[in-house]
Formats: sequence, C-alpha cells, structure tokens
Amino acid sequence: MSKLIKLIEVKKIIDDGILCVVEDLNLPFKIKRVYYIISPKSGLLRGAHAHYKNKQVLFCIRGSVRMVLDDGQNKEEVTLNRPNIGIVLDKMVWHEMHDMNTNSLLLVLASDLFSQNDYIRDYKSFSKLISNAKKNY
Ligand code: TYD
Repeated sequence: MSKLIKLIEVKKIIDDGILCVVEDLNLPFKIKRVYYIISPKSGLLRGAHAHYKNKQVLFCIRGSVRMVLDDGQNKEEVTLNRPNIGIVLDKMVWHEMHDMNTNSLLLVLASDLFSQNDYIRDYKSFSKLISNAKKNY
C-alpha cells in the first residue's frame, strides 16, 4: 500500500476521440492556476523541488512520465501514461519528473498562484526542514 502516491481518476469519454473531464469535486483544493508542459527535452529531469504551500495535481495527457515522490521518509515512484489519471503532489513533497520524451504533455492544476518563494529547490534544505518539523512536533 502506497503512503505517498495518491492517484485521481477522472471521467474519460471515448467517442470520436478521447475526452477527459476534471471537475472541482475530483480535486483536494480549489484551482488557482493551470499550467502545461509541452515538448520537454527527452530524458531531462524536471521538477526536483518541493513547495512550502502549493498543492498540485499533475496529469500526463500524452506520452508518459515517471514520477518520483519523496516526503523525507518515504520515496516512491509511479509511471503515468493515461490521460485520465492524475497524481497529487502535496505540499512539502519532493517531486521529480523523469523519462519524458518530446511527445509527453503534462497538465498541472495548482492550488496557488506562482511564487518563486514557495519553492524548495535544494534537497538538503528540504530534508532539514522535514527533520526540524518532526523534532518540533
Ligand atoms: P519549474 O516549476 O521549475 O518547472 P519544472 O518543475 O517543470 O521543472 O518552472 C520552470 C520555470 O518556469 C521557472 O523559472 C519558474 C517558471 N514558472 C513560472 O514563471 N510560472 C509558473 O506558474 C511555473 C510553474 C513556472
């Protein structure tokens, strides 16, 4: 049983094409921002950060991506390759996107507006914050 990987399955309608629907009720937060990543460079690592506050749900709506999640205690991974399956990227969870190719298309729904200050981009700092939070708990 996974501690870290939370997947969300949304409606998929197959008619003349494939139509997927993400509704408010499928999400653990209200959406304040939507962004998408098109044509990532093949094999390049993306992500590799955590957020203090921002929560996200990421869909790989074309191609595939191997998601690695790490909360400072557990590290788990899953490959997303279905347009109607999203992964929850909670706050204070280190996340990395691996093994995309230029065909991959990622759609991300976010709980907050963009803020550079909300990023933790250094893994050591992330680990320290987690262990300090545990000590104060
Ligand atoms: P980043 O979140 O680091 O991308 P990834 O997690 O896919 O590797 O963002 C890449 C750059 O884009 C970085 O300079 C910040 C900028 N950016 C914005 O200006 N607004 C946004 O909403 C996002 C997500 C990124």
